[in-house]
Amino acid sequence: MKANAYANLAFVKYWGKRDPRLNIPLNNSISMNLSAARTTTSVIFDSALNQDEVYLGDRPADAKFAARVSAHLDRLRSLAGTQDRARVETRNSFPASTGFASSASGFAALTRAGAGALGLDLDERALSRLARQGSGSACRSIPGGFVEWYAGSADDDSYAEMLAPADHWDIVAVSVIVAAEAKPVSSSDGHLLALDSPFWDARAAQVAARLDTVRRAILERDFDTFGREIEMEALSMHTIMMTSAHVIEDRWQSGVYYWHPDTLDLLVTVQAWRREGMDVYFTLDAGPTVHLMCPGDQADRVRRAVRKHQQGRDWTVMTSHAADGAALI
Ligand code: PMV
Repeated sequence: MKANAYANLAFVKYWGKRDPRLNIPLNNSISMNLSAARTTTSVIFDSALNQDEVYLGDRPADAKFAARVSAHLDRLRSLAGTQDRARVETRNSFPASTGFASSASGFAALTRAGAGALGLDLDERALSRLARQGSGSACRSIPGGFVEWYAGSADDDSYAEMLAPADHWDIVAVSVIVAAEAKPVSSSDGHLLALDSPFWDARAAQVAARLDTVRRAILERDFDTFGREIEMEALSMHTIMMTSAHVIEDRWQSGVYYWHPDTLDLLVTVQAWRREGMDVYFTLDAGPTVHLMCPGDQADRVRRAVRKHQQGRDWTVMTSHAADGAALI
């Protein structure tokens, strides 16, 4: 059984877990599936196999990834009451380590294909809850289009749901990958540091109102309100990251810097482009990639501005509109 799923870009962010084992977040989040970042996964259960076989593209996956996939297959196996091992093949339409959450599209596609292969009759909410256990943000790649993840407080009430379908609003993410990602701290570890930031309470106090504003801006297609909120939100999350003190190799670090110098260059430049009349705002994830959000009819102008500003630097640009949810193919 084969399934497609798309990575998603959060406008209100998931950063911090209430329950790290079940991936229950501290707050709701809102995202859009990205058409340029697709994972296709096939899963075949076979009683003749002694162990799961996991391939990334044409190559066997590394042990760490394969173990995560097997642990996720165990969740599906226990629901179906089978011990059969599986052969899993997964392919991404985008390069690895580019700041795209391939774990989100990956675990959403694996959940959809695995459940299909086992004949499990699961509704979207059940699939989203399962995907969440593989990787938190993967639960948002199960529904289509614009999505909200309800934080909940336990396994059964923490899942994502569609706010509006992909064709509801023609906005585009021009994602500028300024550097191959070598994360100083994995997002799994970063989530656990969030509550240590002295600014956590300030962020928590803003999030409820921001969720309402961003949800309404999406439903009303109000681009300026949307843009202002997502920019402030990205900076709020990075404020937490940059003020989460931790220790690496016995050395104290004051915070986690996911930015590259070109990240800051683009953030400053986006503000200048707006002063020149462009409709463009940025958001960021746990990495150096800058995602530029603009109305669909402005995407060419934004891409041209990026190319002009790039000046020989080794950047990759990917353009996405809102994409559908995880589906069998
Ligand atoms: O699902 P994780 O553990 O990879 O966390 C993703 C966290 C961010 O991408 C930084 C924010 C988000 O909401 O997607």
